[in-house]
Amino acid sequence: MPAFSASAPGKIILFGEHAVVYGRPAIAVPVLQVRAKAIVTFDPRSTPGLVKLLAPDIGLETTLSELPENHPLAAVLWKAASTMNLSHIPACTIQVSSNIPIAGGMGSGAAVSVAILRAFSASLGHLLTDEQVSQLAYEVEVIHHGIPSGIDNSVITYARPVYFVKGKPIETLQVKRPFSLVIGDTGIQSSTSSVVGDVRQAWEKASDHFEGLFDKVGEIAASGRKSIESGSIETLGPMMDENHDLLRKMGVSSSELDMLVDVARSAGALGAKLSGAGRGGNMIALVSPENSGAVSKALEQAGATHTITTEVRET
Ligand code: PMV
Repeated sequence: MPAFSASAPGKIILFGEHAVVYGRPAIAVPVLQVRAKAIVTFDPRSTPGLVKLLAPDIGLETTLSELPENHPLAAVLWKAASTMNLSHIPACTIQVSSNIPIAGGMGSGAAVSVAILRAFSASLGHLLTDEQVSQLAYEVEVIHHGIPSGIDNSVITYARPVYFVKGKPIETLQVKRPFSLVIGDTGIQSSTSSVVGDVRQAWEKASDHFEGLFDKVGEIAASGRKSIESGSIETLGPMMDENHDLLRKMGVSSSELDMLVDVARSAGALGAKLSGAGRGGNMIALVSPENSGAVSKALEQAGATHTITTEVRET
């Protein structure tokens, strides 16, 4: 039976979450240790037109015709079909699996979309371009999240560190010297759309204050880019601390995130911050090769449900 598979990595935001929604720059990097995978198989004996969807991680076993059109797995296929000018979706089975934590700020939804788009388009001999994949994954994100900045679909499609400004062409980063991050999961699921919605309400009430916070975050992202491109990795730590402080001022941290950030710093991290929408999900800590083990152990002892150590480099 012919089978076509594709996978896409998770991601974390190094600098600039939330402010990026308001036009400031942000930096995101892929996390290659976690991935979403899609496999499309064709069985010549299957019922014509029957598209089966299997996603055992979320207990889903269904057919395309049974899903509402705006279900993310259905939407991604309909959008791909329309971009490829298909009059119908041929009978096939699409299996989706992922070890990216769900609702943890690591881009699980975008990674599933990107993996499906690539496997599905390859199966039809019509590979979508990176630009098309990123755009379609963005359109699916819009269904879940309202007004996403587009950073998740971009970093996950290109699987490279990116400097991102909403509405501008994507820029990939030159990483002069690789560096390591420990990612610690609070284990608390957080809805990006509701945190983004809360920030919007707070911004509407105190726009000058929030614009000031966003400006400072944007400056950090711009300086962070220079540090990454010139290899002055040590300067990233204090920038992460300052970015975390600004996120706290926006009201998107939580006692669990603050606690893990403090634990990482006490265990020797060069800097730490929450990553993603906040309120739950993950935090990140900048570590040296000597202390990465101690930092991840301290995070786990303090209650992180799991940790990932990842190296940021040009891929
Ligand atoms: O999907 P998350 O949790 O990594 O959050 C995305 C980052 C935000 O800036 C909060 C939202 C966005 O669309 O950029």
